[in-house]
Amino acid sequence: MSENIYPIYDRMMTRQDKESLLNQRGMMVWFTGLSGSGKSTVALGVERELHKRGLLCRILDGDNIRAGINNNLGFSQEDRMENIRRIAEIGKLFVQTGIITLACFVSPTEKIRQLARLIIGDEDFFEIYVSAPLEVCEQRDVKGLYARARRGEVKDFTGISAPFEAPVHPALDIDTSRLSLEECVRSVTNLILNNQI
Ligand code: ADX
Repeated sequence: MSENIYPIYDRMMTRQDKESLLNQRGMMVWFTGLSGSGKSTVALGVERELHKRGLLCRILDGDNIRAGINNNLGFSQEDRMENIRRIAEIGKLFVQTGIITLACFVSPTEKIRQLARLIIGDEDFFEIYVSAPLEVCEQRDVKGLYARARRGEVKDFTGISAPFEAPVHPALDIDTSRLSLEECVRSVTNLILNNQI
């Protein structure tokens, strides 16, 4: 913690003020899973569903964030931790503004996801495991990264040359290789609606 800083949080309008204005509850819906598992695709569908119901949400996505604020980070364990730490801090600001925040990050280890949960707060953190198996993600290979990782051209690639630890008790487990996109979107949307005010 730096010295000589004087946060003004105690004088700002409160989270409750924001939530009453929006008539919704801010929450963090954290999608974890392998690259190509469908995190962003499901989140995009959920965003549309919520928007239709008059609920304000915001997607935070790995490829976007890594092209902007986190463009100085790579994929070592330390950089992934820092990636997620910054995202969780940003996400917390959204949640405290009453926004339903959909975070789509590989976030491959229990330790990394624990950090996010700790920063955001347990009661606001809903973990969704997008559990399509590695073989399916690799077959999809939407970005061609699995093929490149197999050829050794991308190092520390999650699932190939870097670990992925499945979450132990996710709020929801959706396997996009078994369920349709509509079914996945519906389960996540229902989880969110069931936890609204
Ligand atoms: S995380 O591990 O730090 O949470 P994040 O979700 O931000 O990862 O970024 C993952 C995305 O970056 C993947 O969807 C993929 O497109 C791309 N990527 C590039 N290199 C790697 C790598 N070595 N491991 C995983 N994803 C990578």
